[in-house]
Amino acid sequence: MKVIVIAVLSANGKIARFGSSEIDWSSKDDLEWFKKKTKEIGIVVCGRKTFETFRGPLKDRMNIVMTRNPNKGRSENLIYTSDPPKQIIHFAEELGYSYLAIIGGREIFTLFMNENLVDELYLTYEPIFIDGIDLLDVSKDIKLNLLNIEMLGADFVVHYRVQK
Ligand SMILES: NC(=O)c1ccc[n+]([C@@H]2O[C@H](COP(=O)([O-])OP(=O)(O)OC[C@H]3O[C@@H](n4cnc5c(N)ncnc54)[C@H](OP(=O)(O)O)[C@@H]3O)[C@@H](O)[C@H]2O)c1
Repeated sequence: MKVIVIAVLSANGKIARFGSSEIDWSSKDDLEWFKKKTKEIGIVVCGRKTFETFRGPLKDRMNIVMTRNPNKGRSENLIYTSDPPKQIIHFAEELGYSYLAIIGGREIFTLFMNENLVDELYLTYEPIFIDGIDLLDVSKDIKLNLLNIEMLGADFVVHYRVQK
């Protein structure tokens, strides 16, 4: 099982504006890339606040939503859970997935990264500076190896491996 963080960042490393969860500053190219990559992986994990910014569960993907109040119902491709990250990874493995996409937001990136559970990251950089929130809170240095940089229109996607 490989755990993959996928995020879109401003050129100054922010994932959202302060006070606005609307990501109206990212490109169509990135959205298409995100759809393709997460569909390939098949299963995504996000926090309840990020999920509330979607129109509903992401289609053709299993959606795992982390919340401390998981009794919000479920559907064919949506599960709310208060399970810890390791248990979610185990659950995804049991469902037969080889990869798990962690798609935000900041609290959820922080949780998986600081528990040293992330194997790789795909970070798309948008050519804009915004006043906003960081990708994650870092409690200690996390070293990365650069695997690839892919051009995506006016953006680029940086693929990193986390040094373990
Ligand atoms: N640029 C990007 O790639 C990107 C990607 C995703 C999101 N975002 C942005 O990030 C922002 C949201 O990030 P955020 O950090 O505020 O919220 P978040 O990580 O999306 O969700 C936080 C929620 O997750 C649940 N949670 C957190 N830790 C948990 C734990 N240990 N166990 C169970 N549930 C837990 C809690 O839900 P309950 O309150 O229900 O208990 C918490 O309120 C939005 O502005 C969004 O647009 C950006």
